[in-house]
Amino acid sequence: MRINEIFNLAINKGIESDFRTKEEIDKFLARKKQKYEKLSEKEKEEFDVEALTNPYLDSRIYNISEDKDIKRVLVGIDIEPAEILMAKEMGNIDLIIAHHPVGKGLAHLADVMDLQCDALNYYGVPINVAEGLMKERIDEVARGINKVNHQRTVDAARILNVNLMNVHTPADNLATKFLKDLVEKEKPEMISDLMDLLKQIPEYKEAIKIGAGPKIFVGSEENHCGKITLTEITGGTEGSPKLYAKMVQAGIGTIVGMHMSEEHKKEAEAVNLNVVIAGHISTDSLGMNLFIDELEKQGIEIIPCSGFTRFSRVK
Ligand SMILES: [Fe+2]
Repeated sequence: MRINEIFNLAINKGIESDFRTKEEIDKFLARKKQKYEKLSEKEKEEFDVEALTNPYLDSRIYNISEDKDIKRVLVGIDIEPAEILMAKEMGNIDLIIAHHPVGKGLAHLADVMDLQCDALNYYGVPINVAEGLMKERIDEVARGINKVNHQRTVDAARILNVNLMNVHTPADNLATKFLKDLVEKEKPEMISDLMDLLKQIPEYKEAIKIGAGPKIFVGSEENHCGKITLTEITGGTEGSPKLYAKMVQAGIGTIVGMHMSEEHKKEAEAVNLNVVIAGHISTDSLGMNLFIDELEKQGIEIIPCSGFTRFSRVK
């Protein structure tokens, strides 16, 4: 497979597992196109045209030094110049695939956060409430990212002629869909049942060995789960803590997330919303594994690095 084919496969897998339907995503892209067409020539120059075709702007191809048939891929959760050097040292790496965005993808992280509104709406939070409360948080995330040295890793890849791309939200969508299907099938009643269910997943089993397994952040094992939501795994990064009160009003009992700040935790506690934190890098690994399985099916060799725990589900 060529790099573009691998990238398009990731985007398509992301669309298939999105909270939104394919038609809704097409409409989302069409709205961006309408907006683009209304811009002046000067504004068009500044517009990121990838937004017209890629619904996940936090996932990109950053560098193609040699567009060849990809046979060996180094896959990691965070790729920094150290991993680029590692690939060079190994010598036979055709492509690096990161999970977390760098460069342009990182600069556009906030762009995918709208997806959280659709996820919240799926679980019964009115779309106007979700959009209203998320807007403030999306702006906050966009400003927060502003300070980072976006291009550091991309520069290293370019200088050392290493092919580089990342798959963020499509992989997080796959992890969300996997966990959502599991929860809907097994219907855990108590938080202890939910914890047992998560602990059977190989990525979490592995995380337990290093002390990073699933944890109850709010609530206790004896609590009923109530309605379980998977609103915090995909859609860039943590949403607004102000949403928790609205989620409880919408009948939600438990959130399964990847990570949670103290501010968010306090807010969840205040409204008696149970919070189970499945684990950050382990959940990132789960999503990446579900995508990487597609590459394995194509005969591509995978070398995991940077926290990525590889478990194949290819039969
Ligand atoms: Fe992550």
